[in-house]
Amino acid sequence: MKIVDLRSDTITKPSPEMWEKVKSLDNSKIGDDVYGEDPTINELEEKAAKIMGKEAALYVTSGTQGNLVSLLSHTNPSEEILLEELSHIYEHELDGATRVAGLKIKRYPSKKGVPLLDDLQNLIKTKEDAEKAPTTLLCAENTHNYHGGAIIKPEDLRNMKQFAEKNDLKFHLDGARIFNAAIGLNVPVTEFTKHVDSVMFCLSKGLSCPVGSIVAGSKSLIMKARKFRKILGGGMRQAGIIASFGLVALEPKWIKRLEEDHKNAKLLAEGIENLDLPIKIQKPDTNILMISLPQDTRIIKVITALNKEGILAFNIDKQRIRLVTHFGITKDDIEYSIEVIGEVLRKFL
Ligand SMILES: Cc1ncc(COP(=O)(O)O)c(C=O)c1O
Repeated sequence: MKIVDLRSDTITKPSPEMWEKVKSLDNSKIGDDVYGEDPTINELEEKAAKIMGKEAALYVTSGTQGNLVSLLSHTNPSEEILLEELSHIYEHELDGATRVAGLKIKRYPSKKGVPLLDDLQNLIKTKEDAEKAPTTLLCAENTHNYHGGAIIKPEDLRNMKQFAEKNDLKFHLDGARIFNAAIGLNVPVTEFTKHVDSVMFCLSKGLSCPVGSIVAGSKSLIMKARKFRKILGGGMRQAGIIASFGLVALEPKWIKRLEEDHKNAKLLAEGIENLDLPIKIQKPDTNILMISLPQDTRIIKVITALNKEGILAFNIDKQRIRLVTHFGITKDDIEYSIEVIGEVLRKFL
C-alpha cells in the first residue's frame, strides 16, 4: 500500500547532497566541540550567524534545547515570560521553562501568533513591584505551528520589538520554521530576525537534516547559551559529523526548495476544498494545512481510518487535523492524498 506521511516535516530524511557532504569528511574536519575545536561545527555556526544577521550562533541538539537555552540565557529564575497561548514552548516543551529555568509563564492571546499590544501591556509586571515576578522576556513563534504555519509579518515583529524595548523586555523568536516564513513572503530571513534578540531555527524540519537546531544572537548571549547547553547535556564532542548536513541545508538552493512544499500545501488545500465537504480549511501560508471537522466528529476514528488507507496525519486537537508537506512529498502524492482523504471523510461526514 502507498503511504503518504503528512504528520510532520520532522520525518524528513537527508538529501543525496547531504550524504555526499558527510561522506567527504575525514578526521581533519572534526574535533572536540566542547573545546570549540570542531571545524565543521564552527563553519556551520559562522554560516548560520551570517544568514541570520547576528553576531554569533550555536549548534544545539534540538529545537526544544535551543528554546530552553535561549530562555535561560535571557532571564533569571523567578522572572516571568510571555508566551503565545498555543506556542510550541508552552504546549510541547514539557514545562522546561518552569522546571529547569525557574520561570513563571504568562500566556497571551493572539490572532495567528500576533498579539494585541494592549493585551500584552496588561500582563506586564515591573521590577518595582515588590510582590510580583517581573516580566523580562517576550517570545513569539514564526511560522506558527498550531495556527497552521501562519507567518508573522516583519512589521508585526517590529511592533512587538518596540513594545519589548519600551517595557525593558528581551525578545526571543521560536523560528523553528523561519525559512518557511522568509520563502512564503519572498524576503530575506533577516527581515524577521533583525527585530529579535535571539532566534532559534531547526535544521531538522523542512530543511531535512537528521539532527540539530541553531540559536543565533549577540556574542555575549551565545557565550551564555553555550554554557547552558553544557548544563543541559548538549555539549557534544566530534559532532561535526551530524552538523555537516546543516552546511548543505543552509545553501540558498536548499532553502528555496521549501517553495515546493508551499506549492504542495496549496494544491492539497485546493483539492480538499473542491471535495465540497462540510469542513473548514485554513488556507496555508506555508507548508502546514489545518482542516477543522464538524464538532461532533470523532477525530481519532478519522485519523485511524486515514492511517489504514496510508495517509498519515496528526490530530492537533479535538477538531483539527494537521497535514504537513515536506521534502519527499511529490505532486503525485498530493493528488493521491486528496482522493483518499475524500473517500475517508465522506464515510464520517
Ligand atoms: C514551532 C516549533 N518550535 C520548536 C520545536 C521543537 O523542535 P524539536 O522537535 O527539534 O525539539 C518544534 C517541533 O516540532 C516546533 O514545531
